[in-house]
Formats: sequence, structure tokens, C-alpha cells
Amino acid sequence: MRIKKIKCFLLCILGLCVISFQHYYKALHNIPLLQEFSSPSSHLKSLKMVSSFFWNVPDIDFYKHHLKGFLESSVIQSDSIFSTEKLHEQRFVLQDDHTPFFVRTKSGATCFREGTKMAESASQRVLLHHHEEDNVTVKTRRNADQCTCRQGWHGPHCGVPTIVQHSNLPTKTKLTPRATPRRVINAININHEFDLLHARFHELADVVDVFLVCESNFTAYGDQRPLYFQQQLQNGTFDYIKHKILYIFLDHFPSGGRLDGWIADDYLRTYLTKNGMLRIQGAKVDDVFVIDDADEIPAREGILFLKLYDGWTEPVGIHMRKSLYGFYRKQFGTLNILSCCTVAMLTKVYRNDGILLRRRTYYTMPGFREYENSTGNILMPWAIGSPVHYAGWHCSWCFKPEGIYYKLVSAQNGDFPRWGDYGEKLQLNFIKKLIQTGGWFDGSLPDYPPTDPKEHMYAPKHLMDNYEKYRHLLENPFVKLDN
Ligand SMILES: *[C@@H]1O[C@H](CO)[C@@H](O)[C@H](O)[C@H]1NC(C)=O
Ligand SMILES: *[C@@H]1O[C@H](CO)[C@@H](O)[C@H](O)[C@H]1NC(C)=O
Ligand SMILES: *[C@@H]1O[C@H](CO)[C@@H](O)[C@H](O)[C@H]1NC(C)=O
Ligand SMILES: *[C@@H]1O[C@H](CO)[C@@H](O)[C@H](O)[C@H]1NC(C)=O
Repeated sequence: MRIKKIKCFLLCILGLCVISFQHYYKALHNIPLLQEFSSPSSHLKSLKMVSSFFWNVPDIDFYKHHLKGFLESSVIQSDSIFSTEKLHEQRFVLQDDHTPFFVRTKSGATCFREGTKMAESASQRVLLHHHEEDNVTVKTRRNADQCTCRQGWHGPHCGVPTIVQHSNLPTKTKLTPRATPRRVINAININHEFDLLHARFHELADVVDVFLVCESNFTAYGDQRPLYFQQQLQNGTFDYIKHKILYIFLDHFPSGGRLDGWIADDYLRTYLTKNGMLRIQGAKVDDVFVIDDADEIPAREGILFLKLYDGWTEPVGIHMRKSLYGFYRKQFGTLNILSCCTVAMLTKVYRNDGILLRRRTYYTMPGFREYENSTGNILMPWAIGSPVHYAGWHCSWCFKPEGIYYKLVSAQNGDFPRWGDYGEKLQLNFIKKLIQTGGWFDGSLPDYPPTDPKEHMYAPKHLMDNYEKYRHLLENPFVKLDN
């Protein structure tokens, strides 16, 4: 057994050597030398050289035999290993984020930079104020009095945003800033929600460490679809965030998915999480996992809070502002989806399956009690935001009419009635009319509260900042549509 293990280990080392040699030569001498180097026979020659150089290996034939297949496959892949062709096999190494989110003030307090009044005059005023009061107690004074919070931020360190302050988090008094931020993993499935995808990436760019983005060459209905996201990933559209994206490719359709669409729907999330987590290296048990649908965008402050603080319980939901067709068509109430937990809980309770996190039945999961016991705390679900404090946006059917058409025909086969099966509902003019009036496919016309683009949390910042480009989602594009 032990010898087998050692052999295995040596085999891997040798493989690595060969690959790095190849890479090295490729970089140094480019194509001609690489081609020569890539022929299997010269591989074996150099391998012999390498191995006898490093170790006095007695059984070179064993390695020859076992490495031949590996070498040949590595020759075939050699061009793609370092290119984007194997996007869906790349790994992602999580690293600690050393952004100085907190600063230490002159008086020794730890304050959240963004949430604290830090202007020269303001901090001096604070210090002066302390001096005048009592020199002795300044040092022993609780942090509480030493950070002056900006509007929207709370707590002794000014790092608790209003959406957490006004949430139902049961442990608000036990929150402490972390020395090192948690890493945040955000997982989504993408179909053609590209406006919202840009909005997400910009909203969360500096708080999420890796985006797991899963795309399939099958629609949720089981038809073939082009890899739109992969194409854009490769043509430069997402270069501003590419370094944080781990591309997941689902190349099959689950059996039974055509008959029962919910199977396909769930499977997307299962595959997304399992494949994604397998390809992440260096995840820690207290890192944060967040799974969303493409049309659910968490607000940055809530996720940043999870990243920077200890003391919250899990699983964590997010109250999202609901709208239909665009942000101008707000719906009543919020959508609260359980979508965040630690990597420990994801692994131990949900068995790395993101769909289970979104269900509300965590307490019946086999691993839950044991996991709860291991944390030493009572685990209580809570949600960032509240019914009156939006902590994100859920924008349903937020597309141009063509996008709605595409969503109709690719919808899974289980959420009935499936409007994509009705020819008249697929007419662009019918769809435009729905967008114009806020009507639904069944002919009903729900009530909507009034909206104003100036209202707080109207839409993600990136969309507001690029109003012209995203006007179709921010204002009703068909107000003046003729019948
Ligand atoms: C506090 O110390 C400053 C100088 O460090 C001094 O000027 C001031 O008088 C002291 N205040 C009190 C109340 O002792
Ligand atoms: C999806 O991709 C896989 C792997 O490339 C391929 O075998 C399969 O036929 C593709 N399916 C469709 C519908 O394109
Ligand atoms: C990238 O590809 C998408 C379609 O897949 C296209 O809409 C877009 O314009 C392309 N962008 C660039 C910069 O070529
Ligand atoms: C909880 O943990 C304690 C030790 O920390 C152990 O004695 C006890 O059996 C555990 N209970 C459950 C239900 O796992």
C-alpha cells in the first residue's frame, strides 16, 4: 500500500515536471521547440533524464508504462492547458483579501473605513472632544465612542449596515470585526440575463472573491443552446471581472428533466455547486457561500457584512425588492430567499448541494444537529434586510421583448402553465403589451405600487450609473405604445 502511494506521488511529481518543462519551453522558445518537445518519444527521453537526475529510480519501465498515457494526453492538451479552451477545467485558488477595510484611529479604535466619518476635521474633532473630557478614560473607553458612524452604518465599529441593523439577526450584540475577511463565493446559473449579470458583477466586484458561473449547452427545457456566456468571456466582454470568474460547463441534461422540469431546474444548482466547490482550492470552513438565481442580486453592503464580521448565525436569507419586466414595475413586499451560509454548513449540512440551501428545511437535514452542536451555538435562520429595508433586487422577466421570448421558449417543463407552449403568448406584440401594462400571461393585471427612480434601492448602482444603456430596465419602454 505504502509503496503504491509513493509511486503515485512520484508519478504526479514527474507529471508536474513535464508540464512545467513544456510551459517553460513554450514561453522561452515558442512554437518550433515546443513541437519538437511534444513528440512522445522525446517526452520519454527527457522524462528519463529528469527522473534519473532527481532520483535514482530503479523501475523506469513502470513509469514509462504508466506515464505513456498521461504524456500522450498531456501532449494533446498542451496547447489548451494554458489557454481558455479548457475554461471549465480550470481551478481557482482562494486567497486572503488584505484590503484594509478597517482602520485604527489615533485613539486606538478599530473603525470600518467606509462607514466612519474619517475626514481630517471630523476625526480631529472627535479626538479633541475626548481630550477635553477625561484623559484617563479615553484609553479604556469602549470602541463605541470612538468611531463616528456615517449615515447608514451602525455598531461600535461602524461596519454594520442599516440592512443588518434593522434585520431579525438574533445575535446583533455579539458581532465583532474579523482580523481577516472571510472569502465569499457567489454561485449562479446563467442563461441570457446579461444586463443583470453586469449589474451583479459591478455590485459585488470588491466583496466576492470568486463567482461560480454555470452555463449549459442545454436550455432548462432540454433544447440545444449556444454558449453565449462563454463566447463573451472569451471575446473580452467580461475582462473587467474575468479574474474572479470560475466557469462551469454543464454539458448534459439530467434524465427525466424533460418530463419533469423541476428535476432539470434543481439539477442546475446541484451541478453548479458540486462542480464549482470541487474546483476551488483553499476554501476555509468559515468562508461564505452565496447562491442566487441570475435575477437575484444581493446588495453589496449585506454581503460585505458577512465577509467582515464574526458572530452572525446561519443560514442567511436576503430580502429583495421585487419587480417585474423592469425596476420601474415594483411589486409589493419582498422576496426572502435563503441563499447564504458558511462553507462548513454547505459541506456538512447541505452536502455541497446549493439547491438544498434554498429550501427552508435545513433543520431536518441529517447533518444539521451535529453541525449545530459543533458550532457551539444555536443556529437560527435570519435574513439581511426586512420587508421595508431592501437588501437586494429580484427582477423577474427583466429583458427586452426578445429576451422574454427566449425565456419563454427555454423555460423548464414543470412550472405550469408553461406559456412558451402557447403560440399567441410568444408574439412580440403581445409581450410588448405586457411590458407596457404590467399584465401577466394569464391576462390578469396586478396592482403595483408607484415607483420613482430617485427612491432608495430603486435598482443596482451600475444600472443607475449607466442610465442610458439600461434605460429599458429603468423606465417603461412602451408607455406610448400604439394599439
Ligand atoms: C488632557 O491632556 C492634555 C494634553 O495631553 C492636557 O492639555 C489637558 O489639560 C488634559 N485634560 C485633563 C482634563 O486632564
Ligand atoms: C453539449 O456538449 C457536450 C460536450 O461537448 C456534447 O456531448 C453534447 O452533445 C452537447 N449537447 C448539445 C445539445 O449541444
Ligand atoms: C462578444 O460576443 C457577443 C455575442 O456572443 C456580442 O454580442 C458582443 O458584441 C461581442 N463583443 C465583442 C467585444 O466582440
Ligand atoms: C454535542 O457535543 C457534545 C460534546 O461537545 C457531545 O457530548 C454531545 O453528544 C453532542 N450532541 C449531539 C446531538 O451530537
